[in-house]
Amino acid sequence: MKKISVKTSRPYEVLIERGALAKSGEYIAQVTGSRKAAIITDDNVERLHLPTVLESMRAAGFECSVYAFPNGEQSKCIENLAEIYDFLCSSGITRSDIIVALGGGVVGDITGFAAASYLRGVDFVQIPTTLLAQVDSSVGGKTAIDIRGGKNLVGAFKQPALVICDSDALKTLPDEVLSEGMGECIKYGMIRDEKLFELMESHNLDTVDEIMDEMVYKCIDIKRQVVENDEFDRGERMILNFGHTLGHALEGWHNYKDYAHGAGVAAGMCMITDKLAPQLSERLKKCCAAYKLPTGSDIPMSELLPFCSKDKKNEKKDINYIICKEVGKCEIVKVPFTEFCRLMEG
Ligand code: GLY
Repeated sequence: MKKISVKTSRPYEVLIERGALAKSGEYIAQVTGSRKAAIITDDNVERLHLPTVLESMRAAGFECSVYAFPNGEQSKCIENLAEIYDFLCSSGITRSDIIVALGGGVVGDITGFAAASYLRGVDFVQIPTTLLAQVDSSVGGKTAIDIRGGKNLVGAFKQPALVICDSDALKTLPDEVLSEGMGECIKYGMIRDEKLFELMESHNLDTVDEIMDEMVYKCIDIKRQVVENDEFDRGERMILNFGHTLGHALEGWHNYKDYAHGAGVAAGMCMITDKLAPQLSERLKKCCAAYKLPTGSDIPMSELLPFCSKDKKNEKKDINYIICKEVGKCEIVKVPFTEFCRLMEG
Protein backbone atom coordinates (compact mmCIF):
# COMPACT_ATOMS: atom_id res chain seq x y z
CA MET A 1 0.00 0.00 0.00
CA LYS A 2 1.14 3.55 -0.73
CA LYS A 3 0.18 6.29 1.71
CA ILE A 4 0.15 10.07 1.33
CA SER A 5 -0.28 12.27 4.42
CA VAL A 6 -2.02 15.54 3.61
CA LYS A 7 -1.14 18.23 6.14
CA THR A 8 -4.04 20.63 5.79
CA SER A 9 -6.02 22.32 8.60
CA ARG A 10 -7.54 18.89 9.12
CA PRO A 11 -4.77 16.38 8.33
CA TYR A 12 -5.65 13.05 6.71
CA GLU A 13 -4.23 10.19 4.72
CA VAL A 14 -4.78 9.02 1.18
CA LEU A 15 -4.39 5.25 0.84
CA ILE A 16 -3.58 3.82 -2.60
CA GLU A 17 -3.91 0.07 -2.79
CA ARG A 18 -5.27 -2.51 -5.20
CA GLY A 19 -8.15 -4.29 -3.52
CA ALA A 20 -8.59 -1.53 -0.90
CA LEU A 21 -12.38 -1.48 -1.38
CA ALA A 22 -12.57 -4.88 0.26
CA LYS A 23 -10.68 -3.52 3.26
CA SER A 24 -12.46 -0.18 3.45
CA GLY A 25 -14.29 -1.05 6.70
CA GLU A 26 -11.02 -1.83 8.46
CA TYR A 27 -9.47 1.44 7.24
CA ILE A 28 -12.51 3.59 8.08
CA ALA A 29 -12.68 2.05 11.56
CA GLN A 30 -9.25 3.59 12.19
CA VAL A 31 -10.47 7.17 11.64
CA THR A 32 -13.74 7.13 13.60
CA GLY A 33 -14.82 5.98 17.01
CA SER A 34 -18.37 5.49 15.75
CA ARG A 35 -19.69 2.31 14.18
CA LYS A 36 -22.59 4.01 12.44
CA ALA A 37 -22.10 5.05 8.80
CA ALA A 38 -24.13 6.58 5.99
CA ILE A 39 -22.90 5.54 2.54
CA ILE A 40 -23.82 7.81 -0.38
CA THR A 41 -23.31 6.56 -3.92
CA ASP A 42 -24.89 6.52 -7.39
CA ASP A 43 -26.81 3.75 -9.11
CA ASN A 44 -23.84 2.64 -11.29
CA VAL A 45 -21.41 2.41 -8.41
CA GLU A 46 -24.09 0.83 -6.23
CA ARG A 47 -24.20 -2.08 -8.68
CA LEU A 48 -20.43 -2.34 -9.21
CA HIS A 49 -18.81 -1.68 -5.84
CA LEU A 50 -21.34 -1.20 -3.03
CA PRO A 51 -21.58 -4.92 -2.14
CA THR A 52 -17.79 -5.11 -1.57
CA VAL A 53 -17.74 -1.97 0.58
CA LEU A 54 -20.84 -2.97 2.57
CA GLU A 55 -19.43 -6.40 3.32
CA SER A 56 -16.18 -4.88 4.53
CA MET A 57 -17.95 -2.19 6.59
CA ARG A 58 -20.24 -4.73 8.26
CA ALA A 59 -17.31 -7.06 8.98
CA ALA A 60 -15.63 -4.12 10.74
CA GLY A 61 -18.74 -3.70 12.91
CA PHE A 62 -20.44 -0.79 11.11
CA GLU A 63 -24.18 -0.37 10.99
CA CYS A 64 -24.69 1.14 7.52
CA SER A 65 -27.50 2.95 5.78
CA VAL A 66 -27.23 3.58 2.02
CA TYR A 67 -28.54 6.29 -0.30
CA ALA A 68 -28.00 5.84 -4.06
CA PHE A 69 -29.05 8.50 -6.57
CA PRO A 70 -29.12 8.48 -10.41
CA ASN A 71 -25.60 8.86 -11.84
CA GLY A 72 -24.67 12.02 -13.71
CA GLU A 73 -23.99 15.72 -13.24
CA GLN A 74 -27.74 16.49 -13.08
CA SER A 75 -27.77 14.89 -9.62
CA LYS A 76 -25.32 17.47 -8.23
CA CYS A 77 -28.26 19.75 -7.49
CA ILE A 78 -30.02 21.33 -4.56
CA GLU A 79 -32.99 18.95 -4.81
CA ASN A 80 -30.73 15.92 -4.45
CA LEU A 81 -28.86 17.63 -1.61
CA ALA A 82 -32.20 18.04 0.20
CA GLU A 83 -32.86 14.30 -0.32
CA ILE A 84 -29.43 13.55 1.17
CA TYR A 85 -30.17 15.71 4.25
CA ASP A 86 -33.49 13.83 4.72
CA PHE A 87 -31.69 10.51 4.35
CA LEU A 88 -29.04 11.49 6.93
CA CYS A 89 -31.73 12.67 9.31
CA SER A 90 -33.92 9.56 8.95
CA SER A 91 -30.81 7.36 9.35
CA GLY A 92 -30.15 9.04 12.71
CA ILE A 93 -26.66 10.24 11.71
CA THR A 94 -25.11 12.37 14.47
CA ARG A 95 -22.03 14.58 14.48
CA SER A 96 -19.90 11.75 15.79
CA ASP A 97 -20.87 9.28 13.01
CA ILE A 98 -19.26 8.96 9.60
CA ILE A 99 -20.45 9.63 6.05
CA VAL A 100 -18.89 7.73 3.15
CA ALA A 101 -18.80 9.08 -0.42
CA LEU A 102 -18.50 6.07 -2.72
CA GLY A 103 -18.24 7.07 -6.38
CA GLY A 104 -16.89 9.60 -8.85
CA GLY A 105 -16.65 13.38 -8.70
CA VAL A 106 -20.39 14.04 -8.51
CA VAL A 107 -20.82 11.70 -5.53
CA GLY A 108 -17.72 13.10 -3.80
CA ASP A 109 -18.65 16.75 -4.35
CA ILE A 110 -22.28 16.58 -3.21
CA THR A 111 -21.58 14.17 -0.35
CA GLY A 112 -18.71 16.36 0.82
CA PHE A 113 -20.96 19.39 0.82
CA ALA A 114 -23.68 17.50 2.71
CA ALA A 115 -21.02 16.42 5.23
CA ALA A 116 -19.77 20.00 5.54
CA SER A 117 -23.23 21.41 6.21
CA TYR A 118 -25.35 18.71 7.90
CA LEU A 119 -25.31 19.37 11.67
CA ARG A 120 -22.61 21.98 10.86
CA GLY A 121 -20.19 19.26 9.90
CA VAL A 122 -19.88 15.48 10.08
CA ASP A 123 -16.66 13.59 9.25
CA PHE A 124 -16.62 11.96 5.84
CA VAL A 125 -14.49 9.51 3.89
CA GLN A 126 -13.89 9.64 0.16
CA ILE A 127 -13.76 6.37 -1.78
CA PRO A 128 -13.27 7.66 -5.34
CA THR A 129 -14.06 5.12 -8.05
CA THR A 130 -13.04 7.10 -11.14
CA LEU A 131 -9.53 8.15 -12.12
CA LEU A 132 -10.54 11.81 -12.21
CA ALA A 133 -11.97 11.63 -8.69
CA GLN A 134 -8.90 9.77 -7.38
CA VAL A 135 -6.34 12.24 -8.71
CA ASP A 136 -8.34 15.43 -8.35
CA SER A 137 -11.72 15.91 -6.72
CA SER A 138 -11.41 13.55 -3.73
CA VAL A 139 -8.27 15.27 -2.42
CA GLY A 140 -8.05 18.89 -1.30
CA GLY A 141 -11.42 19.49 0.32
CA LYS A 142 -13.37 21.29 -2.40
CA THR A 143 -17.03 20.28 -2.15
CA ALA A 144 -19.91 21.77 -4.10
CA ILE A 145 -23.22 21.53 -5.88
CA ASP A 146 -24.36 23.18 -9.12
CA ILE A 147 -27.08 25.82 -9.23
CA ARG A 148 -28.93 27.41 -12.17
CA GLY A 149 -26.27 30.15 -12.33
CA GLY A 150 -23.41 27.70 -12.89
CA LYS A 151 -21.42 24.68 -11.86
CA ASN A 152 -19.91 24.39 -8.36
CA LEU A 153 -21.25 27.79 -7.30
CA VAL A 154 -22.38 26.65 -3.85
CA GLY A 155 -19.86 24.77 -1.79
CA ALA A 156 -17.46 24.63 1.11
CA PHE A 157 -13.93 23.59 1.94
CA LYS A 158 -14.22 20.38 3.92
CA GLN A 159 -11.25 18.06 4.09
CA PRO A 160 -12.13 14.37 4.30
CA ALA A 161 -11.09 12.18 7.24
CA LEU A 162 -9.59 9.63 4.84
CA VAL A 163 -9.35 8.92 1.10
CA ILE A 164 -9.23 5.33 -0.15
CA CYS A 165 -8.08 4.77 -3.76
CA ASP A 166 -8.35 1.30 -5.25
CA SER A 167 -6.85 1.05 -8.77
CA ASP A 168 -8.73 -2.22 -9.33
CA ALA A 169 -11.98 -0.24 -9.15
CA LEU A 170 -10.87 1.64 -12.27
CA LYS A 171 -10.95 -1.58 -14.32
CA THR A 172 -14.74 -1.33 -14.60
CA LEU A 173 -14.58 2.17 -16.12
CA PRO A 174 -15.61 2.68 -19.76
CA ASP A 175 -12.69 3.87 -21.93
CA GLU A 176 -14.02 7.41 -22.24
CA VAL A 177 -14.25 7.81 -18.45
CA LEU A 178 -10.70 6.50 -17.94
CA SER A 179 -9.56 8.75 -20.76
CA GLU A 180 -11.04 11.86 -19.18
CA GLY A 181 -9.19 11.12 -15.93
CA MET A 182 -6.00 11.04 -17.99
CA GLY A 183 -6.64 14.68 -18.96
CA GLU A 184 -6.03 15.63 -15.32
CA CYS A 185 -3.04 13.25 -14.96
CA ILE A 186 -1.33 14.77 -18.01
CA LYS A 187 -1.98 18.19 -16.49
CA TYR A 188 -0.03 17.22 -13.34
CA GLY A 189 2.93 16.09 -15.45
CA MET A 190 2.85 19.33 -17.40
CA ILE A 191 2.67 21.66 -14.41
CA ARG A 192 5.07 19.93 -11.99
CA ASP A 193 6.80 16.72 -13.01
CA GLU A 194 8.52 15.89 -16.28
CA LYS A 195 9.31 12.33 -15.08
CA LEU A 196 5.58 11.73 -14.53
CA PHE A 197 4.93 13.12 -18.00
CA GLU A 198 7.55 10.74 -19.46
CA LEU A 199 5.89 7.81 -17.66
CA MET A 200 2.57 8.67 -19.31
CA GLU A 201 4.25 9.33 -22.66
CA SER A 202 5.64 5.81 -22.64
CA HIS A 203 2.17 4.25 -22.28
CA ASN A 204 -1.30 4.61 -23.75
CA LEU A 205 -4.93 3.99 -22.83
CA ASP A 206 -4.56 0.22 -23.38
CA THR A 207 -1.47 -0.14 -21.19
CA VAL A 208 -2.09 2.51 -18.53
CA ASP A 209 -3.07 -0.08 -15.92
CA GLU A 210 0.64 -1.06 -15.79
CA ILE A 211 1.54 2.36 -14.39
CA MET A 212 -1.70 3.14 -12.60
CA ASP A 213 -0.54 2.95 -8.98
CA GLU A 214 2.64 4.93 -9.58
CA MET A 215 0.84 7.52 -11.71
CA VAL A 216 -2.03 7.98 -9.23
CA TYR A 217 0.47 8.29 -6.38
CA LYS A 218 2.51 10.95 -8.19
CA CYS A 219 -0.55 12.95 -9.24
CA ILE A 220 -2.03 12.94 -5.74
CA ASP A 221 1.33 13.86 -4.25
CA ILE A 222 1.51 16.92 -6.51
CA LYS A 223 -2.01 17.88 -5.49
CA ARG A 224 -0.99 17.40 -1.84
CA GLN A 225 1.93 19.82 -2.17
CA VAL A 226 -0.21 22.46 -3.87
CA VAL A 227 -3.13 22.13 -1.43
CA GLU A 228 -0.84 22.20 1.61
CA ASN A 229 0.63 25.48 0.35
CA ASP A 230 -2.71 27.05 -0.55
CA GLU A 231 -5.59 25.13 1.04
CA PHE A 232 -8.16 27.89 0.48
CA ASP A 233 -7.36 28.61 -3.18
CA ARG A 234 -5.92 32.10 -2.89
CA GLY A 235 -2.86 31.75 -5.11
CA GLU A 236 -0.73 28.74 -5.97
CA ARG A 237 -3.70 26.34 -6.14
CA MET A 238 -4.64 28.15 -9.34
CA ILE A 239 -1.93 26.16 -11.17
CA LEU A 240 -4.25 23.16 -10.96
CA ASN A 241 -6.37 25.05 -13.47
CA PHE A 242 -3.90 24.60 -16.35
CA GLY A 243 -6.07 23.92 -19.41
CA HIS A 244 -9.23 24.71 -17.47
CA THR A 245 -10.01 28.22 -18.78
CA LEU A 246 -10.56 27.03 -22.34
CA GLY A 247 -11.65 23.62 -21.04
CA HIS A 248 -14.51 25.16 -19.04
CA ALA A 249 -15.35 27.28 -22.11
CA LEU A 250 -15.64 24.11 -24.21
CA GLU A 251 -17.84 22.48 -21.57
CA GLY A 252 -19.98 25.63 -21.42
CA TRP A 253 -20.25 25.86 -25.22
CA HIS A 254 -21.56 22.27 -25.16
CA ASN A 255 -24.01 23.27 -22.44
CA TYR A 256 -22.21 20.94 -19.99
CA LYS A 257 -23.64 17.95 -21.87
CA ASP A 258 -21.80 15.29 -23.86
CA TYR A 259 -18.42 16.93 -23.31
CA ALA A 260 -16.36 15.52 -20.46
CA HIS A 261 -14.44 17.79 -18.09
CA GLY A 262 -11.14 15.91 -18.58
CA ALA A 263 -11.54 16.10 -22.36
CA GLY A 264 -12.00 19.85 -22.02
CA VAL A 265 -8.85 20.08 -19.88
CA ALA A 266 -6.85 18.19 -22.54
CA ALA A 267 -8.17 20.31 -25.40
CA GLY A 268 -7.69 23.48 -23.31
CA MET A 269 -4.06 22.59 -22.47
CA CYS A 270 -3.31 21.90 -26.14
CA MET A 271 -5.00 25.08 -27.36
CA ILE A 272 -3.20 27.44 -24.97
CA THR A 273 0.11 25.64 -25.56
CA ASP A 274 -0.36 25.94 -29.33
CA LYS A 275 -0.65 29.71 -28.95
CA LEU A 276 1.81 30.49 -26.18
CA ALA A 277 4.37 27.67 -26.02
CA PRO A 278 4.31 26.10 -29.50
CA GLN A 279 7.66 24.38 -28.85
CA LEU A 280 5.81 21.96 -26.51
CA SER A 281 2.69 21.57 -28.56
CA GLU A 282 3.57 18.46 -30.54
CA ARG A 283 4.77 16.57 -27.46
CA LEU A 284 1.67 17.42 -25.44
CA LYS A 285 -0.71 16.57 -28.28
CA LYS A 286 0.97 13.21 -28.87
CA CYS A 287 0.54 12.32 -25.22
CA CYS A 288 -3.12 13.41 -25.15
CA ALA A 289 -3.82 11.49 -28.37
CA ALA A 290 -2.30 8.31 -26.85
CA TYR A 291 -5.07 8.47 -24.24
CA LYS A 292 -7.78 9.22 -26.83
CA LEU A 293 -8.16 12.79 -25.62
CA PRO A 294 -8.95 15.75 -27.89
CA THR A 295 -5.98 17.91 -28.86
CA GLY A 296 -7.94 21.00 -29.85
CA SER A 297 -11.33 22.05 -31.10
CA ASP A 298 -12.97 23.16 -34.36
CA ILE A 299 -15.13 25.67 -32.50
CA PRO A 300 -13.99 29.18 -33.48
CA MET A 301 -12.10 30.96 -30.68
CA SER A 302 -14.49 33.90 -31.06
CA GLU A 303 -17.33 31.61 -29.90
CA LEU A 304 -15.36 30.13 -26.99
CA LEU A 305 -13.91 33.30 -25.50
CA PRO A 306 -17.23 34.65 -24.18
CA PHE A 307 -17.48 31.47 -22.08
CA CYS A 308 -14.02 32.18 -20.61
CA SER A 309 -15.09 35.56 -19.30
CA LYS A 310 -17.91 33.92 -17.34
CA ASP A 311 -15.42 31.69 -15.59
CA LYS A 312 -16.17 32.27 -11.90
CA LYS A 313 -12.45 32.07 -11.10
CA ASN A 314 -11.68 35.29 -12.97
CA GLU A 315 -11.38 38.48 -11.00
CA LYS A 316 -13.16 41.50 -12.49
CA LYS A 317 -11.85 42.15 -15.96
CA ASP A 318 -8.53 40.41 -15.48
CA ILE A 319 -8.01 36.78 -16.26
CA ASN A 320 -5.47 34.41 -14.74
CA TYR A 321 -4.20 31.81 -17.11
CA ILE A 322 -1.63 29.09 -16.54
CA ILE A 323 1.10 28.39 -19.05
CA CYS A 324 3.85 25.77 -19.18
CA LYS A 325 6.88 26.83 -21.16
CA GLU A 326 8.75 23.66 -20.22
CA VAL A 327 7.25 20.30 -19.32
CA GLY A 328 7.09 20.19 -15.51
CA LYS A 329 7.14 23.96 -14.98
CA CYS A 330 4.29 26.42 -15.04
CA GLU A 331 3.48 30.02 -14.29
CA ILE A 332 0.37 31.99 -13.46
CA VAL A 333 -0.11 35.01 -15.71
CA LYS A 334 -2.64 37.74 -14.96
CA VAL A 335 -3.72 39.88 -17.92
CA PRO A 336 -6.75 41.98 -18.86
CA PHE A 337 -9.38 39.75 -20.49
CA THR A 338 -9.05 41.75 -23.71
CA GLU A 339 -5.33 40.88 -23.83
CA PHE A 340 -6.14 37.18 -23.28
CA CYS A 341 -8.58 37.35 -26.23
CA ARG A 342 -5.89 38.97 -28.39
CA LEU A 343 -3.37 36.25 -27.50
CA MET A 344 -5.82 33.42 -28.19
CA GLU A 345 -7.15 34.86 -31.44
CA GLY A 346 -3.68 35.81 -32.72
N1 GLY B 1 -9.70 20.84 -8.83
C1 GLY B 1 -8.87 21.93 -8.56
C2 GLY B 1 -8.63 22.15 -7.11
O1 GLY B 1 -8.88 21.28 -6.31
O2 GLY B 1 -8.23 23.23 -6.75
